[in-house]
Amino acid sequence: MSKLVVISGGANNIGKGIAFGFLNEGWNVAIIDNNIEALKKIKEPNLFKFFGDVSNEDDIKKFYNELKIKYKRLDVIINNAAIGGFKNFFELTLNDWKKVIDVNLTGYFLMVKYGAPLMLDCPGKGSIINISSTRAIMSEPGNEAYSSSKAGILGLTHALANSLGPNIRVNAISPGWILHENEQVSEIEHKQHLVGRAGYIQDIFNLVLFLSENKSEFITGQNFVIDGGMTKKMTYI
Ligand SMILES: NC(=O)c1ccc[n+]([C@@H]2O[C@H](COP(=O)([O-])OP(=O)(O)OC[C@H]3O[C@@H](n4cnc5c(N)ncnc54)[C@H](O)[C@@H]3O)[C@@H](O)[C@H]2O)c1
Repeated sequence: MSKLVVISGGANNIGKGIAFGFLNEGWNVAIIDNNIEALKKIKEPNLFKFFGDVSNEDDIKKFYNELKIKYKRLDVIINNAAIGGFKNFFELTLNDWKKVIDVNLTGYFLMVKYGAPLMLDCPGKGSIINISSTRAIMSEPGNEAYSSSKAGILGLTHALANSLGPNIRVNAISPGWILHENEQVSEIEHKQHLVGRAGYIQDIFNLVLFLSENKSEFITGQNFVIDGGMTKKMTYI
């Protein structure tokens, strides 16, 4: 039976691109997302779609229970679902803060907590890929909750790599500016990148696929920045 990859936040943009990338490679693919409209718009019959909130423990348990019955295996988890929550620091409430941490960090923890046992039951080795952000290591004003959640993911990644080895590898990817479906940006916005362009969803999928396969079997606990060089560029005026 084909390998199974699960992707949180797979109904839009990066997560959706990753899901279709894996389908094209012949994998079984399951997504969990809390955007019902976006889920309904995806008509691909081979994609297993689940309506659920990654910060809700019961939703995650139900999701994996259904997968266990249907596929009886789990090979790769891509933690991708996140919310922005950028807000002036002095207007950021405790609830705003908790909401971002709940989805962006606790959601990743729950996806692994209930997914890893299924992976360990399955033949072969597993791979977990946590999508962080370059905002884990650099900021603009108003990034407190989002940047903290994304930096937390980097800590979660190396801790899990220690706890889940040798049978499961855990790595993070920190994207820079990745264009959404049909998003257009100006020439100057492209050219500011050291490689001369902003990122595409395919750039993320290429790295996700590499980290999912045995070709990367000596790599775990790492963070891969994929940003066209933006975090290596001095911008002092
Ligand atoms: N696009 C970029 O430039 C960029 C840059 C750096 C990092 N990232 C990261 O990449 C990932 C995907 O980004 P994107 O731009 O595709 O985001 P997006 O907002 O377009 O898509 C996120 C998906 O997650 C889902 N989601 C949100 N909260 C959820 C919840 N509680 N439960 C289940 N699903 C939920 C949304 O419905 C949506 O389908 C995120 O982790 C984001 O932080 C994106």
